[in-house]
Amino acid sequence: MDVVRLGLVGAGEVAARHAAAAAEVPEVRLTAVADVDLDRATRLAGDHGAAAFADLADLLAGAEIDLVVLAVPHARHADLALAALAAGRHVLVEKPMATTLADCDRMIEAASRAGRLLYVGQQQRQLTTVRRAREVLAEGSLGRPLLYLERRSSDYTPGARPAWILDRELAGGGIAIMVGIHTVDRASWLLDELPVAVSGSVATPAGWQVETAAAGQLFFAGAPPAYFSLLHTGPDFFHETTVICERGRVAIDPAGVTVADGRGLRRIVTVDQDREYTLSFARQYQAVSYCLREGASPAVSLTEARTAVAAIHALYESSAAGGARIALHPTTVRYPHM
Ligand SMILES: NC(=O)c1ccc[n+]([C@@H]2O[C@H](COP(=O)([O-])OP(=O)(O)OC[C@H]3O[C@@H](n4cnc5c(N)ncnc54)[C@H](O)[C@@H]3O)[C@@H](O)[C@H]2O)c1
Repeated sequence: MDVVRLGLVGAGEVAARHAAAAAEVPEVRLTAVADVDLDRATRLAGDHGAAAFADLADLLAGAEIDLVVLAVPHARHADLALAALAAGRHVLVEKPMATTLADCDRMIEAASRAGRLLYVGQQQRQLTTVRRAREVLAEGSLGRPLLYLERRSSDYTPGARPAWILDRELAGGGIAIMVGIHTVDRASWLLDELPVAVSGSVATPAGWQVETAAAGQLFFAGAPPAYFSLLHTGPDFFHETTVICERGRVAIDPAGVTVADGRGLRRIVTVDQDREYTLSFARQYQAVSYCLREGASPAVSLTEARTAVAAIHALYESSAAGGARIALHPTTVRYPHM
């Protein structure tokens, strides 16, 4: 496949970022956009010389598409992925993979049956900052990790974001499934292990359907616990990850990476946050097209993507049980190579 033709389903907030990123990657071409709000699809498609459709079925019937990109509310991920896979298309689905583990398993089985790529868009691994921090940890000069800390915000001000994120059915939860899913993925990737248990609590304001704050721990078999707190603070964004090691620490913030070691405190990476965000999606498209060209496994394995959903469900279960430690059970689903 020379150029991967993209059919983007959902023309909302993140779709604009996908479209801008795709325009920077010669290996992919945005060919069609679909949205149940056809005006939205038409606007985004028009900006990128693509065709507009009202839904996935019309898009598949009306355009030559290799990869369906799903940028829709969480509860729609599974059914649309299944439809695209059944139609013989590869799928890139935004995070979280799905709202339930049963849906994750249906998606994995469908990808396996169809022999098509299913790639989950945990694109934060593609951030320069996160990649550099992982290299620092792997280099070994800081010694073993002893403690992992993360705090980040998300804006749950009513009206500031799409309305569905406040709807439990459509979103599958609140801040934990929306951005905590990135937290689980980042901790797993930096510590190089999948979590085996979770404990924590979530806070749902009176009269709300979804939580706007969460705090907890991810436990690993061979790595220290990862402590995290997620918090709605309005538009002020913060996101800090610190890995404390035997001989120093490495800290990631949205604008760079800092290392503290025997040589003092050093800024080792500085980035333009907005540019970096687009680049993370562009690198994800490069990674997806590499998988399709070479038959390689996704950078984010389906096991990892499913485990992230399992961890968030375990957090909800723990919160309901007063903060009890909840084990994550290995799945019996057979994961395809791709
Ligand atoms: N990776 C990231 O950094 C990042 C950032 C933001 C959002 N996201 C993810 O992207 C996804 C979309 O979030 P968003 O903020 O763009 O939401 P959004 O509400 O801005 O956009 C979703 C769009 O999907 C459309 N839609 C809904 N159901 C549809 C259907 N069945 N067929 C076609 N279109 C449909 C809606 O009309 C809307 O325009 C979510 O999974 C979210 O978690 C990821």
